[in-house]
Amino acid sequence: MKMLKEIIDIPLSVRSSSDSLTIKDSIVLPPDTNHHGTIFGGKLMAYIDDVATIAATRHARRPVVTASTDSVDFLHPVKKGDAVSLTAFVTWTHKTSMEVFVRVVTEDLLTGQRKVCATSFLTFVALGDDDRPTLVPAVVPETDEERLLFETAPERKEARKIRRQESKHFASYMGTEYAFHESKRHARREQKQTSGYELAWDAEW
Ligand SMILES: CC(C)(COP(=O)(O)OP(=O)(O)OC[C@H]1O[C@@H](n2cnc3c(N)ncnc32)[C@H](O)[C@@H]1OP(=O)(O)O)[C@@H](O)C(=O)NCCC(=O)NCCS
Repeated sequence: MKMLKEIIDIPLSVRSSSDSLTIKDSIVLPPDTNHHGTIFGGKLMAYIDDVATIAATRHARRPVVTASTDSVDFLHPVKKGDAVSLTAFVTWTHKTSMEVFVRVVTEDLLTGQRKVCATSFLTFVALGDDDRPTLVPAVVPETDEERLLFETAPERKEARKIRRQESKHFASYMGTEYAFHESKRHARREQKQTSGYELAWDAEW
């Protein structure tokens, strides 16, 4: 027999965004930097994923996986010797997914000047004992910033849904192999010429 909460589709419980708040401070050391003396983009993205994973796990108190990361724009360089401070919290949840907001602030430790060098939204999915997506608690926003992020989250989720569909079509169109073979390239070109990208991906737009 189905559990009542599954039938009426209500969240298990509620948590505030501050319950999942996660902060990570690091100093940028030479192995983290490129030949310009600024942090590798991949290093910063790994920090973002780390801190967001902790926030999502704190919220769900279940194992989580990263379902997607929205675009990350590197707004200012982060230099060797700077401090980099990341804060993350869960802004909103749907059924099994959670949106996490990450803010990356860089600080010149000698002058104290601080700048927001990146922001990002990530989506995590909580997994049940069967390794399938499982329900997560809802979020109660408390501050103005949390309320703004909470209220605008459904719109971002909708955009991600469309992007995921496009990614699936694009991945299926590209296939697993680089198109070295003229026949494959030709077949793709034919498809594009006769039907355009949209129909080549067999997608409805
Ligand atoms: C994420 C994953 C668990 C989703 O599983 P699925 O069987 O496709 O499940 P569903 O389609 O029912 O999606 C479950 C939830 O995830 C959300 N979701 C799935 N893919 C998403 C994406 N790319 N971006 C944002 N949300 C996504 C769905 O909207 C749904 O949310 P809801 O339950 O709150 O409405 C699965 O695709 C997966 O395991 N991906 C690999 C994750 C991973 O390994 N990450 C590490 C980096 S590679």
